[in-house]
Amino acid sequence: MAAAIDIVDLTKTYGELKALDSVTLSIPEGDCFGLLGPNGAGKTTLIRILTTLIRPTSGAARVNSFDVVKDRAHVRQRIGVVPQAMTSDLDLTGFEIMDIYARFYEMEKKERLERIDELLGMVGLRERAGDLVATYSGGMRRRLEIARGLVHKPSILILDEPTIGLDPQSRHVVWELLESFRKTDKLTILLTTHYMEEAESLCDHVAIIDYGKIVALDTVEGLKRQIPQKDVVELTVGNIDLQEASQRVASVPAVNSVVVKDDRLIVATDNGANAIPELVDGIKRMGGNLTRVLLKQQTLEDVFIHFTGRPIREEEAKKVSFLLGAGVPTKWGR
Ligand SMILES: Nc1ncnc2c1ncn2[C@@H]1O[C@H](COP(=O)(O)OP(=O)(O)O)[C@@H](O)[C@H]1O
Ligand SMILES: [Mg+2]
Repeated sequence: MAAAIDIVDLTKTYGELKALDSVTLSIPEGDCFGLLGPNGAGKTTLIRILTTLIRPTSGAARVNSFDVVKDRAHVRQRIGVVPQAMTSDLDLTGFEIMDIYARFYEMEKKERLERIDELLGMVGLRERAGDLVATYSGGMRRRLEIARGLVHKPSILILDEPTIGLDPQSRHVVWELLESFRKTDKLTILLTTHYMEEAESLCDHVAIIDYGKIVALDTVEGLKRQIPQKDVVELTVGNIDLQEASQRVASVPAVNSVVVKDDRLIVATDNGANAIPELVDGIKRMGGNLTRVLLKQQTLEDVFIHFTGRPIREEEAKKVSFLLGAGVPTKWGR
C-alpha cells in the first residue's frame, strides 16, 4: 500500500543542535501513527516540517507523494493540522473560526455550511457554535480545533500533542473523537505525544524519538516484544536515598535494570516472582520503608525506559511551566 507520509534521512539543525537527526520513517495509508518522546525530542520540529512551516536542513519528506518543500500547496490541501498550542481565536465564535478556515480552502457556500454543521455536530459543539471561543473549556477548544483541521476533508490529520493540558475526561473524549473521525473520514493520523496511554490506546504504530533520533519503531505489541526482560517490579520506598538504593538493587543478579521514578524503584527482571524476596530484603537492610510492591506486565513506559534509559514523565513538569509562560528553558534538564 502507498505510504501516506514518507520521510527519508530528515535532519534539522539549529546551530550546533540537531533537533532532528537523520529521521527515516514511512507511515502507511490508514495508519494511526504515534511519535512518542519527551520534551525537546524533536516532535514539533518534525511536525512543522511535514506541515510545510519550516524547511529541513537536509533529507526529504513526502506527503501523499508531494514533497514538503517543493509542493507545499498540494501538501497543505491534503493535511489537516492541529498544532500543539491552542490556536483558536478567543474573540471569534466557534462557527466563525470554522467558516474562516473553510473559506481559506475556497469551499463553496453550500458545501461549507454543511461540512461545518456536520463537524460541529460530531465534536459536540453545535449548540455552542454561536458562542465566543473565550467561553469554551480547554476540552471544547481542542475539539473545535480538531473540527477546524478537518474542514477541507483532508486525508491525513496531523496532531501535535492533542491532549496536552487536558483533564483525563476531556482526554478520553478527544481519543474517542479521533477514533470515530478515523473511520468516517478514512483518515491517516499522525500524532505526537508524551503520554504513554495515548500512544498505547490510539496508535497502530509507535516511533520512540529521543534527541532527534528514532530509537525504536514498531507496533505497540512489537515494541514490548523487543525488550528483553519479562517482568517489571515497582517498589515504592521511603526513608532512603533512591538513587543510592537503585545502585544497590542493580547489583542483584536477577535484576536487568533499575530506574528511579518519583518515590519508586522500577526494576526490570526476567522473573519478578523470584526477584521480589531478594529485593524486599535488600531494601529493608538499607533501612528503606517499603510501602508497596507491584509485579506487573510491561507497558509502553517500560519500553521507553529500555530504549532511552529514563522514564518519560520527569519531563512533564517542565512542559507545564512552559505552557504557563514560565519561559522556554534553553536546556531541557539534560
Ligand atoms: N526555532 C528554534 N531555534 C532553536 N532551537 C529550537 C527551535 N525550535 C526547536 N528548537 C530545539 O530543538 C529541539 C527539539 O524541539 P521540539 O521539536 O520543539 O521538541 P518537542 O516537540 O519534542 O518537545 C529542542 O532542543 C528545542 O529547544
Ligand atoms: Mg512539541
